[in-house]
Amino acid sequence: MELRAAIRRRKMTRAFASRPVDGGLLEELLDLARRAPSAGNTQATGFVLLDRPGLVERYWDVTLPGPPSAKRERFRWQRLLDAPVLVLVTTEPGRYLSRYAEPDKAATGRGQSEQSWPVPYWWVDAGAVIQNLLLLATEAGLGACLFGPFENEPALRAEFELAPDLRLAATIALGHPLADEPGRSAGRARAPLADVVHRPGIDSA
Ligand SMILES: Cc1cc2nc3c(=O)[nH]c(=O)nc-3n(C[C@H](O)[C@H](O)[C@H](O)COP(=O)(O)O)c2cc1C
Repeated sequence: MELRAAIRRRKMTRAFASRPVDGGLLEELLDLARRAPSAGNTQATGFVLLDRPGLVERYWDVTLPGPPSAKRERFRWQRLLDAPVLVLVTTEPGRYLSRYAEPDKAATGRGQSEQSWPVPYWWVDAGAVIQNLLLLATEAGLGACLFGPFENEPALRAEFELAPDLRLAATIALGHPLADEPGRSAGRARAPLADVVHRPGIDSA
């Protein structure tokens, strides 16, 4: 599939068949997704791969806890829970500080603290990897849905014994897509290009 077609076709999928994703394909997609630009070539975006039923189940046990009659049954996207793969996309600000303390970057002052970064590039870089993965999934005929761990992050950290330096950018569900209803926000019209592209001195940007 052509890149332009993948960009046009990509949509969040919130219903999945439970059949597994081929392990070789999954590895290939992750390997390609990580080939994204990163500040100082730090390459600190990572994946915690939950690609076995037991691991996926533990994720949902943590994020939709309680007896089956509770939160999980009321969850709007029941067939999102069937996704056979969950990818936790992680980043490590500390690695940016180390990289920017190296001789070729030290003069930037960015090696000192997270606060010395006007734009926290670790989130920018994670976003590039995430978009690669979403497009690669589309091209491979898979569905993907991105959602945030939000208040469940501490519990997820404990459950999967994540290193204290890792931050969670997002969870991406991957699998074979089923027809689903669009999400609440998807009906919002695409903004006109003129609202997005600003030409200083021409528009009143
Ligand atoms: C940073 C980010 C967080 C999102 N969080 C959620 C989420 O928690 N739950 C959800 O169902 N969709 C989530 N989405 C999906 C958006 O609602 C969706 O991308 C948007 O409505 C546009 O629809 P499309 O991606 O299908 O084109 C998120 C998307 C992004 C980029």
